[in-house]
Amino acid sequence: MSSLKGKHIVLGITGGIAAYKSAMLLRLLIKRGAEVQVVMTPAAKEFITPVTLSALSGKPVVSEFFTANTGEWHSHVDLGLWADLMIVAPATASTLGKMANGIADNMLVTTYLSAKEHVMVAPAMDLDMYASSSTRRNLATLASDGVEIIEAAEGELASHLVGKGRMAEPEEIVARVDRFFSRSGEMSGMKVALTLGPTYEKLDPVRFIGNYSSGKMGCAIAEECASRGAEVTAICGPVSVYPSHPNIRVVKVESAAEMHAEAMKEFPLCDIGILTAAVADFRPETCAGHKIKRENDEEMTIRLVRNPDIAAGVGAKKKEGQTLVGFALETDNAFANAERKLERKNLDMIVLNSLADKGAGFRTDTNKVTIFSRGGGKREYPLKSKREVAADIADAIVEYREKRQTDLE
Ligand code: C5P
Repeated sequence: MSSLKGKHIVLGITGGIAAYKSAMLLRLLIKRGAEVQVVMTPAAKEFITPVTLSALSGKPVVSEFFTANTGEWHSHVDLGLWADLMIVAPATASTLGKMANGIADNMLVTTYLSAKEHVMVAPAMDLDMYASSSTRRNLATLASDGVEIIEAAEGELASHLVGKGRMAEPEEIVARVDRFFSRSGEMSGMKVALTLGPTYEKLDPVRFIGNYSSGKMGCAIAEECASRGAEVTAICGPVSVYPSHPNIRVVKVESAAEMHAEAMKEFPLCDIGILTAAVADFRPETCAGHKIKRENDEEMTIRLVRNPDIAAGVGAKKKEGQTLVGFALETDNAFANAERKLERKNLDMIVLNSLADKGAGFRTDTNKVTIFSRGGGKREYPLKSKREVAADIADAIVEYREKRQTDLE
């Protein structure tokens, strides 16, 4: 009940029939102690009046960049910085498209683009629009940008057609808001060290042996832990997108040897260590000082030598109270191999990525995992966005640590 006390929430309302439900959502947020600033798109005013919303929120509604008669300029970014959370409910197809593509032609979208903290959207539209490939694409883009999607429900729609497109009920949205704020301080005071991305093993000055890891899963976990208050050190192999949050320190490395050296420095200092990197098991024995020439040979042999196993290295030095989490990508005997890896590397938890499922694994925005915990716990999850999988992994880590703590007491 008190989790929203003093929280700053921007409630964005767009032009859809479901806008009438936003008044109820606003009332519920205010009743729980939140300070709410309403931002409406011009079209939203056709569906619900600013008078109702300003009376309920106790604040003038923001909608235009200027006050028409005085010319007073309203900063289009201040609210994004003020907000601890932004919720767009209802979110029409048009606003989702603008948010996904940065079309900043109204106060709601400029506020979204400058929002520093978490953003949720609750779409509402007719079933065919909701199912259309453009809406699906925009929602997928927003999800991979870290926006939490509160999926629309099935039911009767404004068109009297029945299908998926009804905005989630205000009570359900408030439950998501509660969950977000109760998680947000959960890891404060904790240090997290994390490896992510691929490694590149140099053959000569222009070539390397690498792999397809994008580092997306690791980035999502780093950002999830940071948003729960942890101080995160992310040791990143060569990736195109690095994790970004004020609580994250990024250390850039290229090879497994460099990642190993940094991990051996950082992991002893952490409470939670997470090994998401796809580390090359072998590296070329020598790196040529110049570009290797083709010559006239039909074959070429490269001698490889073993790289250090970072997970096993930090596992061997694990201290009391530390929790270490590894990843496994298996093509056969997945469950048995994952459990063996947990033991062999002295980890507390292991996240098994499914390669068999479409949309899981490398270079995708979704993943399907099973989490094994020391002591025999095993939980399978459905296919979700990497952002949601990161939240599940963080939940599982927090739960594991709490259980360990009670077992010790
Ligand atoms: O043994 P395997 O590579 O399947 O184990 C995967 C787990 O071990 C992942 O958590 C990965 O980040 C970690 N690992 C590592 N160093 C290696 C190989 C794997 O940290 N050289």
